[in-house]
Amino acid sequence: MEKKYQLAIEARENAYAVYSNFKVGACVVLKNGEFVIGSNIENSSYGLTNCAERSALFASYSLGYRQRDIEEIIVCTNNEIPSSPCGACRQVIYELMEKEAKVTLINPRLENTISLKVKDLLPLGFDGDKLNEA
Ligand code: THU
Repeated sequence: MEKKYQLAIEARENAYAVYSNFKVGACVVLKNGEFVIGSNIENSSYGLTNCAERSALFASYSLGYRQRDIEEIIVCTNNEIPSSPCGACRQVIYELMEKEAKVTLINPRLENTISLKVKDLLPLGFDGDKLNEA
C-alpha cells in the first residue's frame, strides 16, 4: 500500500474521539514528498472539536507550508463508503489548498475510494478574492 494511505489509516489511531467514537485520520501530501498527519480531536464542549482534515492542514501551515506546497489530502474513516469532509472543513480546505489539488477519501481497506478536486468539494466557494471586491 502507498505510504500516504498507510499514514492516513494510522492517523485514525491518534484520534481523540471519546465522545463520538468516530475516528478520522488525515494525511497532507506535500509536493516535496513529505507528509503531515492529523486526527480528529474532540472536546467536552463539542463545538470546539477539530476535525482530522483541519488538524492536518493547520499542522502543515504551522510548519510553514502553504497552498502551493500541498498536492493532496487523504481522509480516512472506517465507513464502507468513505465519509466526506464536513462543511467547516470544506471551507478550510478551499482556503488552504489550491483549487485543483486532490482530495481523496478512503477507508482502511481501500474500498470505494473517492477522489475529487478541491473546487468540486465546495462549488461556488467563498475565499479572499471575494473580499477584495468590496
Ligand atoms: N470528523 C472529522 O474529523 N472529519 C470529518 O470529515 C467528519 C467528522 C470528526 C469530528 C468528530 O470528532 C467526529 O468526526 C464526529 O463528527
